[in-house]
Amino acid sequence: MSKLSIFNRRSFLKTSALSVVALSAGLVLPKLSAFASAAKLHNNPLAIPALDMGTKQGNKTIFNLEIQNGETEFFKGVKTKTRGVNGALLGPTLRMKNGDDVQLNVKNSIGETTTLHWHGLHIPAKYDGGPHQPIKHGETWSPEFTIMQKAANFWYHPHLMGKTAEHVWQGIAGMIIVDDEESEKLSLPKEYGVDDIPLVLQDRRFFKDGSMTYKPSRHDIMAGMIGDVPLANGTIEPYFEAKKQLLRLRLLNGANASIYELAFSDNRSFKQIATDGSMLEKPYEINSIILSPGERAEIVVDVSGGNNFMLLSKPVEGGGMMGGGMGSGMMGGSSSREEYGIPFNFLEIRPAENFQKSPSIPSKLTNINWLDEKQVDKERSFLMSMQMGPMAMLGSGKSHTINGKSMDMKRIDETIKLDDIEIWELSNDSNFAHPFHVHDVQFQILSRNGKKPHAGERGLKDTVLVNPNEIVRFIAKFDDFADEKYPYMYHCHILEHEDAGMMGQFLVV
Ligand code: C2O
Ligand code: CU
Ligand code: CU
Repeated sequence: MSKLSIFNRRSFLKTSALSVVALSAGLVLPKLSAFASAAKLHNNPLAIPALDMGTKQGNKTIFNLEIQNGETEFFKGVKTKTRGVNGALLGPTLRMKNGDDVQLNVKNSIGETTTLHWHGLHIPAKYDGGPHQPIKHGETWSPEFTIMQKAANFWYHPHLMGKTAEHVWQGIAGMIIVDDEESEKLSLPKEYGVDDIPLVLQDRRFFKDGSMTYKPSRHDIMAGMIGDVPLANGTIEPYFEAKKQLLRLRLLNGANASIYELAFSDNRSFKQIATDGSMLEKPYEINSIILSPGERAEIVVDVSGGNNFMLLSKPVEGGGMMGGGMGSGMMGGSSSREEYGIPFNFLEIRPAENFQKSPSIPSKLTNINWLDEKQVDKERSFLMSMQMGPMAMLGSGKSHTINGKSMDMKRIDETIKLDDIEIWELSNDSNFAHPFHVHDVQFQILSRNGKKPHAGERGLKDTVLVNPNEIVRFIAKFDDFADEKYPYMYHCHILEHEDAGMMGQFLVV
């Protein structure tokens, strides 16, 4: 089986007659012109995940989730086996409010063990949904906790030891929107599915028969599994008709391994209003934004101008690796889109002919309670490494490490005192960029290579990209939840790296 090339796929979607037979024909088309001012390039309406506000029972809000197997028609007439939550692919957007007491009943119906992790939420370790909370097939796991977040976007995805990459690739993931008193009062686009859109950005590889079976090569485990077909909310080549002037996009990089540099095809500017775990204090005007796997950002774009335009990811050199000349022979995989030298066209935005004017957005969004370096109780450092030579046997427990160690569920790597404020120094001596993610806390980036982070990173974060030879320092307070038994995780959010061992665990006691 060889995989389906993006060019072939495009030609079929264009003629809208994609079939298994046609897929095998193997046509090759010329490269897409990257920044063409879009006529109508995409033919599929963007899927908008169902909005699930839960149901009130007394003072609890209950969410019922079932992880299930299904089939998705990515290509006309071709059924692809996928997995999702309350559906065949991906899952509903869960909407919660700061202070809510929630209970999530997670039923596993996929025929094998998995977990569901609440990425970014500050919750007790035993409800975190990481490797220590497996849900067997047929069982229901019911964590309950209080939402203690500033307004922002979070997400859920499986986190089973060694299986995270596969289960996410198959389609299990969804967004969580948290609102708070402050965010509800802000004059921002807020009509879900109309001018306030969650966008789960991913990429996949398809085989000729339309399947997207997870079969990473050795190269994929080193570089991360990078697809050549971009998807937004699980839709290939989607368009969205904007009925209002300002469009708020809640962006999640839900890819296994790809780093995206998101921009619009006509290079129009937009305003970033949120990071992973909070609003920015004020909007930050930019033309592009880099999101690595696990990271989120909210942006507001003005669709005025008359033309359709594309949300795309510029070709990022090296995909899973950034700005690092890999050059090594073993990295010469045939799968990354960089070889095609084309951008990923994620979403075509079509301004409606008489779109409604929107009020301008506020200049002040929130206040962040900045932690003081003088109050630091402890500093720790985390070095991410990869052994790349022919001697680096995958699965040897040495190919992907943090501080020289590969993940061991029976080993606690760090123990933190409840209520301590810590500085973590992240470094990376490999040739790949690694998005470092920590559970439990939202942190504040202090510096990159000694310099203050740019304004788009001055919000609360739980995932940060650490480039080769870069040193990133952050500060965080580990409060509220102590547990002698259940640890939290920290890891690289390139899921192949995580599964290959680039993960550790800490207790808060
Ligand atoms: Cu998004 Cu430990 O995970
Ligand atoms: Cu997480
Ligand atoms: Cu990594």
